[in-house]
Amino acid sequence: MLVDTFGRTATDLRVSLTDRCNLRCSYCMPPEGLEWLPKPEVLTDDEVVRLVRVAVERLGVTEVRYTGGEPLLRRGLVDIVRRTAELRPRPQISITTNGIGLDRLAVPLAEAGLDRVNVSLDTLDRAVFRRLAHRDRLDDVLKGLAAAADAGLAPVKVNAVLMRGVNDHEAVPLLRYCLERGYRLRFIEQMPLDAQHGWTREGMVTADEILARLGEEFTLTPEDPAARGSAPAETFLVDGGPAAVGVIASVTRPFCGACDRVRLTADGQVRNCLFATEESDLRTALRGGASDEELAERWRAAVRTKRAGHGIDDPSFLQPARPMSAIGG
Ligand code: 5AD
Ligand code: SF4
Repeated sequence: MLVDTFGRTATDLRVSLTDRCNLRCSYCMPPEGLEWLPKPEVLTDDEVVRLVRVAVERLGVTEVRYTGGEPLLRRGLVDIVRRTAELRPRPQISITTNGIGLDRLAVPLAEAGLDRVNVSLDTLDRAVFRRLAHRDRLDDVLKGLAAAADAGLAPVKVNAVLMRGVNDHEAVPLLRYCLERGYRLRFIEQMPLDAQHGWTREGMVTADEILARLGEEFTLTPEDPAARGSAPAETFLVDGGPAAVGVIASVTRPFCGACDRVRLTADGQVRNCLFATEESDLRTALRGGASDEELAERWRAAVRTKRAGHGIDDPSFLQPARPMSAIGG
């Protein structure tokens, strides 16, 4: 098992399949993009599947989420999902995507064994989308969302990040849109993970603000917090339910104490936290001929040293050198 010194067990593995993306969300990357990982450093499909197999067979991982950058840009994605679904015990398999290309890929992915999707959608306004993501792709995202629901990848989850003066007027319309279509919307507080280091506390729209705004239009009833477990979202029934909305208050109400996540970057580095400043290199060991058990032991050692929390409020807080797009949500 992947246990740390605070007694937490990591069972939820997030694997970044590429650091590339076809959008440029301003809370993530600069408009000109980033210097992408050189191809030889990126794990091959076989290498990804081998490490995921080690995690599932030897380390107690029960959930595998493929992320990016944008995971739909990874050519081998459908095959990676299919091979992940063949592992035993069979893990839950999901992806976090910006939705572009999902209209084409939702059915093949579902057939390969994908269980669920999280799609990022921050605005319903084409001009705001263009300003926020620096690409004119809102229609593609909405098509992708609909295709995911049609393919039975339910419940489709939608992630929204609000930014002051950009899209913070859209909390209510986003929720209406999702309620009408049966998508589960979660608002995520903006975290200091952008490559440009542009995050400020003042610019972040807090969970309290979001809930206040939604509360003007809807009756929100907190769901039983005991049912939350290690899920980062606090959920609220909307107008008596059964529909619900979630808020992921990573900054103002951190949930590090219940964290069950561990991350693998596209170039084969284990990160025990989104905000970790150190990584453990599995790729070199893997390419050097390490056995499954040697890889598992390195992985256990990497998780053991996980810190108690992200410490964003700590004066000594250091933003990780890698941006979100190279870590994977
Ligand atoms: N803060 C909060 N959420 C972020 N995401 C990307 N960067 C940030 C950030 N700095 C979101 C994306 C996606 C998920 C992977 O994380 O919108 O939904
Ligand atoms: Fe791409 Fe996701 Fe980053 Fe937006 S947040 S630029 S969709 S990787």
